[in-house]
Formats: sequence, structure tokens, C-alpha cells
Amino acid sequence: MSRTFFVGGNFKMNGSLESIKTIVERLNASELDPKTEVVISPPFPYLLLAKESLKKPTVSVAGQNSFDKGDGAFTGEVSVAQLKDVGAKWVILGHSERRTINKETSEWIADKTKYALDNGLDVILCIGETIDEKKAGKTLEVVRAQLDPVIAKIKDWTNVVVAYEPVWAIGTGLAATAEDAQQIHHEIRGYLKEKIGAQADKVRIIYGGSVNGKNSGTFKDKSDVDGFLVGGASLKPEFVDIINSRL
Ligand code: PGA
Repeated sequence: MSRTFFVGGNFKMNGSLESIKTIVERLNASELDPKTEVVISPPFPYLLLAKESLKKPTVSVAGQNSFDKGDGAFTGEVSVAQLKDVGAKWVILGHSERRTINKETSEWIADKTKYALDNGLDVILCIGETIDEKKAGKTLEVVRAQLDPVIAKIKDWTNVVVAYEPVWAIGTGLAATAEDAQQIHHEIRGYLKEKIGAQADKVRIIYGGSVNGKNSGTFKDKSDVDGFLVGGASLKPEFVDIINSRL
């Protein structure tokens, strides 16, 4: 089963007009693996700038969140229609920072996922366990519970990329080993197969958490690691090395 390799850059709440122009110009000027799908996710104020300045056909843009309802009286939220209006193709949903800091529940994330998909935005759906859950041997239990509400609400997974991002690996410099990531991705795929059938073979499952230019190559031969979601390193020149890590 061949799945298109996928590398996402989650800028989080970082960047300025200046720095985001620099990142986009670097991507425009670099030779990127034409077989890798790339998505960058700057903060909302810079989405249009990124979209309009990008010259690479394999690179698209994503919002870092979207609401589960259409335009209306929802101060501070961003709608799927608005993201599409400025050229976003994707949205990141369920990131651990939003689960913990913004108290987003798996149910709500599932509602947002359904709303985004129904209205034409592709979804990078983030899941992952905390260090305490990992130590308690609960990784699978946790990621299954995060997936269950989404499984209950959506039938077609064609436009979903699942990002397995263990919370203990995010921003810590302690990435999961390629072997551990492969093992968990395999188990996640197995669970999806049980629940959504053969289409699970087509769902891309990407790894996130302290991926950088040095460690990205170690995941190369891992058959269930279909790419990366990159935070800190996506702001740096090494993002290009991560995109090209399969070459
Ligand atoms: P990191 O973040 O690469 O800085 O660890 C990953 C993420 O949060 O998506």
C-alpha cells in the first residue's frame, strides 16, 4: 500500500511578517522531494500571505484550528469557510496544546473534524498520550479513546491524516525512536482497520514530537510512519531536510 509521504509544519503561535516570508522564500528556493506532500501552518494572520507567496505545487497551507459551526457570533473563532477563503486546504485539529490549554475534549474535536470534512477542509487529527499515561502502559487505551468519537462521526477517512504526537515528545527534544513510533503506528492502524475496515490502509499516520533534520532520516524504512508533523524545526532551515528525509 503506497501512501504519499506527508510533512506538516506547525508554526504554533510563532512568527512575524518578516520571519514567515523568510520561511516561504526558503521553501520556494529549495529543491523539495516532489513525492512528499508538504503543509505549512502559520498563525491565522499570516495564512493568506503564506498561501499567496508559495510557489511550490506540492506545498499547501493549513489553519491551526477551526470551529464546528458556520460563520456567526463566535468571538475569537475561525470558520472553515474563512480558512478555505484564504486558500487553506487543511486544518490541524486536536493538537495536545489545544486539548490541555484550551480544554478541548475528544468529542468536540470529533465535531470539529466532521464539520471541517463536511465543508471541504482536510484534517490533520492529532492524538497522543502524556508521560504519565505512557508510564502506566496506557498509550493505546488513550489514543483509542481519542479516536473513538471521530470513528463514530465520520465514515470516509480519505481526507484525514492522523498525527500521533506523544505529549512527552513535543518540544522536549526527546523524540520517540523510529522503532517505537512504528510499533504504535502499526497498532493505531490495526485499531482503525477493526473499526473502519480496509480504508485504514490508505490513512496516513504521521509522527510528531521533536522531529528534526537529524532524526527524521531514521524513520525512513518504517512502513507505518507516513510522515511527520513538525513544530520547532519547521521554523528553521532544517525543515527542508525533514521534507527530503526520504531521498
Ligand atoms: P515539536 O512540536 O516538533 O516542536 O516537538 C510538534 C508539534 O507539536 O506538532
